[in-house]
Amino acid sequence: MNRLSSSQQSWRRSAGLVATAAAIYAVSLACVCAADPTPEKQAQSEKKIEKKSSKETKYSGADLYAMHCSRCHPERYATERTATQWKTLMLHMRVRANLPAVQAKSVLKYLQEDSGK
Ligand code: HEC
Repeated sequence: MNRLSSSQQSWRRSAGLVATAAAIYAVSLACVCAADPTPEKQAQSEKKIEKKSSKETKYSGADLYAMHCSRCHPERYATERTATQWKTLMLHMRVRANLPAVQAKSVLKYLQEDSGK
């Protein structure tokens, strides 16, 4: 049997097409993956940004207090509360002001140093 029947030929042709399509699909997937940063790389660049921004925080506790804590209500004098009260207040207001830990700490330090003891 030298000649393939027409049905066999068309099966072969479509099998070839499927293989070609699969190859193209695989190549395009590879391209997409290569273009996308891997989650690892993304995490690394996020870390870099974090590092940079924490280094850039050169504001004093008093500066940060003035910038963030008068957004919703007038600033309270540090002397209006005791150090312990400020500690508790900062637990609540830190969340409201959306302050990162480093900044919240320096605001608290400033308030406690000038507090009503
Ligand atoms: C998103 C708004 C918002 C921000 C930002 C904010 N606060 Fe407040 N603060 C409030 C609200 C609302 C109250 C009223 C009490 C409550 O509902 O908890 C309050 C109450 C207070 C009080 C006690 C009430 C008074 O009148 O004496 C103090 C003190 C205070 N905040 C300090 C701060 C400090 C310090 C910061 C900065 C870290 C800050 N707040 C940032 C909304 C805010």
